[in-house]
Amino acid sequence: MEGAREYLPDNSVDLIISDPPYGIAGDTLHKHYNRNESLVLDGYVEVPAEEYPAFSLAWIKEAERVLKPGGSLYIVSGYSNLIHILNALQNTSLQEVNHIIWKYNFGVYTRKKYISSHYHILYYVKPGGQPVFNTFSRYGEMEKNDESKGSLNYQDREDVWIINKEYKHGKIKNKNELPTQLLVKMIQYSSNEGDLVCDFFLGSFSTAKVAIGLNRRACGFEKSSVAFDYQIREIKKIVPGSLIPTLRTPAPRKRTRQGERISEAERERVTQRYSELKGQKMTQKAAIQQMTEEFGRGYWSLLRMLQQVSG
Ligand SMILES: C[S@@+](CC[C@H](N)C(=O)[O-])C[C@H]1O[C@@H](n2cnc3c(N)ncnc32)[C@H](O)[C@@H]1O
Repeated sequence: MEGAREYLPDNSVDLIISDPPYGIAGDTLHKHYNRNESLVLDGYVEVPAEEYPAFSLAWIKEAERVLKPGGSLYIVSGYSNLIHILNALQNTSLQEVNHIIWKYNFGVYTRKKYISSHYHILYYVKPGGQPVFNTFSRYGEMEKNDESKGSLNYQDREDVWIINKEYKHGKIKNKNELPTQLLVKMIQYSSNEGDLVCDFFLGSFSTAKVAIGLNRRACGFEKSSVAFDYQIREIKKIVPGSLIPTLRTPAPRKRTRQGERISEAERERVTQRYSELKGQKMTQKAAIQQMTEEFGRGYWSLLRMLQQVSG
C-alpha cells in the first residue's frame, strides 16, 4: 500500500492481477503440498488472520484508486478469506463482472471430507470507462472442439477454468506461484500490448514476468526483501514479447456467404434481427458485429443493407 501510494498515480493502471497472502495461521502449506522446501524462497510475508479484513480493505481501496476508469481487477483467493475480500469490494465503486472458479490439480489431500481443489477469482472493473475484453483473442468465433463439436470460444470463456499448477523441478519459487497459463488468459482477455499490468503481491513476480512476455508493461510490490531481491534480478532476463510466439492464433471469421446475391427476404431478416439486438441495448457496432456471424456477411455489407432499408 505504501508502495502504491508513493509510485502509482490515480487512474494509471490498465489491469491489476493480485493473489494476496492467505492470512492462515501457521505455515503448514508445505506439508500438505509435500514439496521440497529448500527450493521455496524463504520470506513469504503473512498477514495475521485478525488483520485480514482491514488489510483487504486497505489494498483494494488502493487498487480502486490506481486503476484507470474501465480498468480490470482480478483477485485470486481461497475460500477462508473470501468473505473479507468480498466485503472490501462492496466498499468500493468497483463493479463485479464474474466470479470464476479456478480448478487445479494437487488439491490438499483429506480422507474424511471432500478434497479442496479450487480457488476463487473475482473479476471486477472500475466504472467510468470502456473495459478491455478481447473476446476473440484466443479462439475465433467459428472454431469448434473436434470431439464435442462445441464452440471453443464459448468453452474458453466459461467461468470454470481447469488449469494445472506447475511444478518447476529444481527451480526456486515462491509459495504457490500462479501458473503461466492462468496469467496468460487473464492478461490476453483484459489488456492490450503496451498496457500497464500491476500486481500488489508479486511473490515470484509471475504476473510481471508473463505481462512482459506478452509485451505489456509491468509494475508491482513485494514485502519480502528476500523474494524481491532474488526476483528483481530474474525479471531482467525476461525478453519483452517472448511469450507471444507461443500463443495460438485464433482462426479468422469466415464470411461464408460473401459474394452471394442479397435477396429481399435476407434484407428483411437482417433488419428484423438488427432491431431485436438494438432492443437489447446493443450499440450499432456490436449488433452488426454479432450479425456478421449469424448471417455470414461482412460488416460493411450488413451496414449497407441497413442503410438502404432506412433510406
Ligand atoms: C500468495 S503470494 C503471491 C504469489 C504470486 N502470485 C506468485 O505467483 O508467485 C502473496 C505474496 O504477498 C507478499 N506480501 C504479503 N504482504 C504484503 C504486502 N503488504 N505488500 C506486498 N506484498 C506482500 C508475500 O510475501 C507473498 O510473496
